[in-house]
Amino acid sequence: MIDRSQISEETPRTVYSDDLKDKVAIVTGAGSGIGKGLAVGLARAGAKVALVDLDEKAANEASEEINVEMPSADVMPVICNVAEEDSVADAYEKIMAKWDRLDALVNAAGIAPAGPLVDIDVKKWRLALEVNLTGYLLMAQAAARIMIDRERGGNIINISSKSGLQASKNNTPYNATKAGEIHMARGWALELGEYGIRVNSICPGNVFKGSKIWNPEYIKICAAKYKIKPEEVIPFYISRTALKREIIGQDIADSVVFLCSEKARVITGQTLVVDSGQVMVR
Ligand SMILES: NC(=O)c1ccc[n+]([C@@H]2O[C@H](COP(=O)([O-])OP(=O)(O)OC[C@H]3O[C@@H](n4cnc5c(N)ncnc54)[C@H](O)[C@@H]3O)[C@@H](O)[C@H]2O)c1
Repeated sequence: MIDRSQISEETPRTVYSDDLKDKVAIVTGAGSGIGKGLAVGLARAGAKVALVDLDEKAANEASEEINVEMPSADVMPVICNVAEEDSVADAYEKIMAKWDRLDALVNAAGIAPAGPLVDIDVKKWRLALEVNLTGYLLMAQAAARIMIDRERGGNIINISSKSGLQASKNNTPYNATKAGEIHMARGWALELGEYGIRVNSICPGNVFKGSKIWNPEYIKICAAKYKIKPEEVIPFYISRTALKREIIGQDIADSVVFLCSEKARVITGQTLVVDSGQVMVR
């Protein structure tokens, strides 16, 4: 057996070979956590990236961070509520005015209101439907219209979750919406394939670093669920993976860059689980 204590868990930075040079990508929820990691990865792979987020400060800071790391990167923060039609239309107008092309959309702006069925606040349930389902739909609808019109194909990726495949306890709105995102992607793949547009889902495992979903309140709910202390939650979740390895934003970004690249040219309608080995898709 491998002695994990002898292995450095520091993941080296991925070096991409300009896989997406000059492509234009949109990432929603790019102000924080996974979305931010995806924007960084896509920029490292040579793409021009629109960082879409409701949180203006977070989107601006994430764009600045990318420019500090890669002064030649072409990135733009775009303030947008993905659940609002007018806001989405404004965002696309801004993006197309700047680059006049679109190659990839990655839907990652999501929320996770947790709690037991008997306590669910219906307002929070409705908000989850709006952001996680309507938001993914509106962004994909606008992207598909542009991609069909431009006749250059493209990629749409829904960032779902392992909870979209395997329900987690006390997580009704999240389970429902994350499963819905996977199934919407499958339907879109069928509709858009003839235009050379590929649509796939990625199901990340638990990504703690930089995520606002993993806030103290959410960690407390998870601690109660497994009858452990809040400080034991992260090590406990990592211990449940086959690889006993924490997942970071770059792990998800590597999969996004692959799916958006020519290397994935015949992959569509699929669900890629990136979770250190927890949920095994059959
Ligand atoms: N972190 C995890 O463990 C994990 C695991 C699996 C899947 N995911 C999924 O990855 C995505 C990102 O999760 P995260 O942990 O990075 O979350 P996060 O809360 O750190 O980031 C989400 C971002 O989305 C933005 N956002 C929220 N509502 C929005 C709206 N209506 N319009 C535009 N932007 C909005 C927020 O401002 C925030 O910057 C979510 O879809 C989540 O379901 C996360």
